[in-house]
Amino acid sequence: MLRVLVCVSGGGTNLQAIIDGIQKGTIRNTEVVRVLSNNQNAYALERAKKAGIEAVCVSPKDYESREEFNKALLESVRAAKPDLIVLAGFLVAIPSIMTAAYPNKIINIHPSLIPSFCGKGFYGLKVHEAALARGVKYTGATVHYVDDGTDTGPIILQKPVEVLPDDTPEVLQKRVMEQAEWTILPKAIDMLANGKG
Ligand code: GRF
Repeated sequence: MLRVLVCVSGGGTNLQAIIDGIQKGTIRNTEVVRVLSNNQNAYALERAKKAGIEAVCVSPKDYESREEFNKALLESVRAAKPDLIVLAGFLVAIPSIMTAAYPNKIINIHPSLIPSFCGKGFYGLKVHEAALARGVKYTGATVHYVDDGTDTGPIILQKPVEVLPDDTPEVLQKRVMEQAEWTILPKAIDMLANGKG
């Protein structure tokens, strides 16, 4: 059974896709053992509690320095004894002490076809605004391993999504989530949990 810790910061729709995938059996041999957020108001924490999953908040506001926060973050991760850490809209830079402790054990979902529209400053709606500004006909989502860079680790899965003429960033974001993110993140977890990663 793969022990998965999911890190979240916002609404948690990707977390919900994981929870639903486990319940439906499309994600096999997997258990979410903890959901961790940097944001105590993240609705994702409510989703975890509703699903009976331990939900914890480790907030930078509660620590004197970034270094202290990073240590507390790693401590909370270690306590869950995860085999895999999934960043599902986690808006915290993963410290090198954590990537070093979990090499090739941290994955992230990014709402573009990396290497387009990724890296520092490309998160949330900004990604889709950039795709629309560039005029791409297709965008999509990527699941990749996390290394010490920003959206630079080896790619695991990608799924393209068509950009339509009247798309706004919000409409495009929703289509990318519905048609790509909520499909490839559960699929990647199922692959890694069943020796296909
Ligand atoms: C998603 O768009 C994801 O691609 C990005 O952050 C957002 C998280 O959304 N990394 P949610 O919290 O999973 O609803």
